[in-house]
Amino acid sequence: MPPHPRTPLPRLAFGGDYNPEQWPEEVWREDVRLMREAGVTMVSVGVFSWALLEPEPGVHDFGWLDRLLDLLHTHGVRVALATPTVAPPAWFYRAHPEALPVTADGVRYAFGSRGAICHSSTAYRAAAADITTRLGERYGAHPALALWHVHNEYGVPVSACYCDSCAAHFRRWIEAAHGTVDALNEAWGTAFWGQRYTSFEQIDPPRRTPGAVNPAQALDHRRFADATMRENFVSERDILHRLSPGVPVTTNFMTALSQCDTVDYWAWGREVDLVTNDHYLITDGRRTHVNLAMAADLTRSVAGGAPWLLLEHSTSGVNWQPRNPAKAPGEMARNSLAHVARGSEGAMFFQWRQSRRGAEKFHSAMLPHGGTATRIWREVVRLGSDIAALAETAGTRTEADAAVVWDWQSAWAQGLGGHPTVDHDPVERADAFYEALYDSHLTVDFAHPEADLTRYPLAVVPASYLMTEAAGRNLRRYVEGGGTLVVSYFSGIVDEHDAVHPGPVPGALRDVLGLTVEEFSPLLPGRTVRLDGPGGATWTADVWTEAVVPDTARTVWTYADGLTAGHPAVTRNRLGAGTAWYVSTRLGATDLAALLRTVRADAGLPAPAALPRDVEVVRRSGDGGTYLFAVNHTGSDATVPLDAPGTELLTATPVTGHLTVPAGAVRVVRLPPDA
Ligand code: GAL
Repeated sequence: MPPHPRTPLPRLAFGGDYNPEQWPEEVWREDVRLMREAGVTMVSVGVFSWALLEPEPGVHDFGWLDRLLDLLHTHGVRVALATPTVAPPAWFYRAHPEALPVTADGVRYAFGSRGAICHSSTAYRAAAADITTRLGERYGAHPALALWHVHNEYGVPVSACYCDSCAAHFRRWIEAAHGTVDALNEAWGTAFWGQRYTSFEQIDPPRRTPGAVNPAQALDHRRFADATMRENFVSERDILHRLSPGVPVTTNFMTALSQCDTVDYWAWGREVDLVTNDHYLITDGRRTHVNLAMAADLTRSVAGGAPWLLLEHSTSGVNWQPRNPAKAPGEMARNSLAHVARGSEGAMFFQWRQSRRGAEKFHSAMLPHGGTATRIWREVVRLGSDIAALAETAGTRTEADAAVVWDWQSAWAQGLGGHPTVDHDPVERADAFYEALYDSHLTVDFAHPEADLTRYPLAVVPASYLMTEAAGRNLRRYVEGGGTLVVSYFSGIVDEHDAVHPGPVPGALRDVLGLTVEEFSPLLPGRTVRLDGPGGATWTADVWTEAVVPDTARTVWTYADGLTAGHPAVTRNRLGAGTAWYVSTRLGATDLAALLRTVRADAGLPAPAALPRDVEVVRRSGDGGTYLFAVNHTGSDATVPLDAPGTELLTATPVTGHLTVPAGAVRVVRLPPDA
């Protein structure tokens, strides 16, 4: 349980990171004037301000921050006040060079960027606690304060350190986790390659080794590194709870799977008072709005379904990809409101005023170098008024139709190497299944494999290689109770220590799926296999095949060629009141979509809504009412059927029968509460 109740923000937040220390104070007055013009309600302040707040060890200068917070308060702008602990000052590192993190190769990072932190360093921990305490004492009751923002994006850019302090800390952590050296030897399988330990003192972090490092050791080290960052978050959070009671404490997550894979957000979601997220569009040729929807759904799920807040995204291009396209007209608002549809209590940006200097001067901002005579500024002002028009949706919850089972620890284990192929990527499979569900107009929650799934008629397990026995039992209960489960290959294989479950694979899921897998048979790059299915239909698959041996499962699709020819490729197992499907190969988008259409019928879900591709319809509901968000990512106007008459909030227009959503636009309809 979070130590404090999750405190919803008073209304939808609109604003961004505000770094006024980069500007002379006369600019601040222009900033607040323009913030008012744009309808800004909250800004994040102080994220990188440690060197200004404590210019010399123990010498503090809070005058500028006092003036800034008072100025913002006078102009009605609330503050998410950061602890600056992601950016210790240069003097700190001169005094404590050991606080700079070390790579697995033994290279110590240098000062000159940000986020260079050894989270085990006692000097860092003491200094972070000290500056947090001073901020909490000084501003804990400031009337502008709405939210505490601890640190910045834990896990990025450095998630683990391999220095000697971390080695000592790691030993204490594994001793607490395993109890005895014998238990550790068993869990890590140290009989293999003669790695047996006789004392915890002999154990190091998985530093550079000549061959493959023990995967169970590497997995525990990931857990340790994640837990160590979390310890530091909790320490700052507890200080702020003590000094600033009632003010929620957050740290900004980065749930997009391709952007941060080193943090177990299921565990972090339980520690924050309000889940906040940063999301940036990745330009890799795929549909960026699908990745956005997925990150937003994952963030909401980490928040346990409660409202959350998008703390950073960009008004237009970023500057840290090889190529950084600008956003098209209207895209910024569409992105922002798509997050709101999926539960965000507003939309915030990095950053308010575009920097003139430093590493991010070509990153877009709310107020660009070109000032107010720019398209971005005009769109920002418009978005501010759109968000204000949606204030009544605050506190409502997004409704989901299906679940995707996701476990960061399982993804870590799949990255450890020594597996049948390097071409299997759990994130790729999660993306593929999510995209198929998105394209069939289902709204999705994510769930940990041990979480209760009973409220979902359909649950999909994209690639859960590491699966505890408890998770296997949970999925069995789900199916027996009437759920429809779809499991993708390489799931249910190992336990929490990366040891293969006893007996034939997939040990955690054999009885759920009603089959065993005799052998994995991955394909070489460019090779495909044909699958034969019902009514003479054929599909093509790649990357992975298996010699599946059915037990109670019925074969639906069969491998027609390749080494596994004649074996089942896709199976269906009736178990109790439910059904478990198994997909033993990598299906492309079209075939996966076709499979999910069949499965959807098993789950008793109605046929997909008659909506064009790339038109999203998502509902938020609660005591306040029910809201239908329609987001049109296409270049043509779209028609969305309405079950009941309502009022469109952005145009303040009554709507009946159907809703027209102009090309590239968003519409939000207040429906009657029971609609
Ligand atoms: C975020 C970070 C911000 C800024 C932004 C640029 O990850 O928190 O400080 O660097 O990226 O996109």
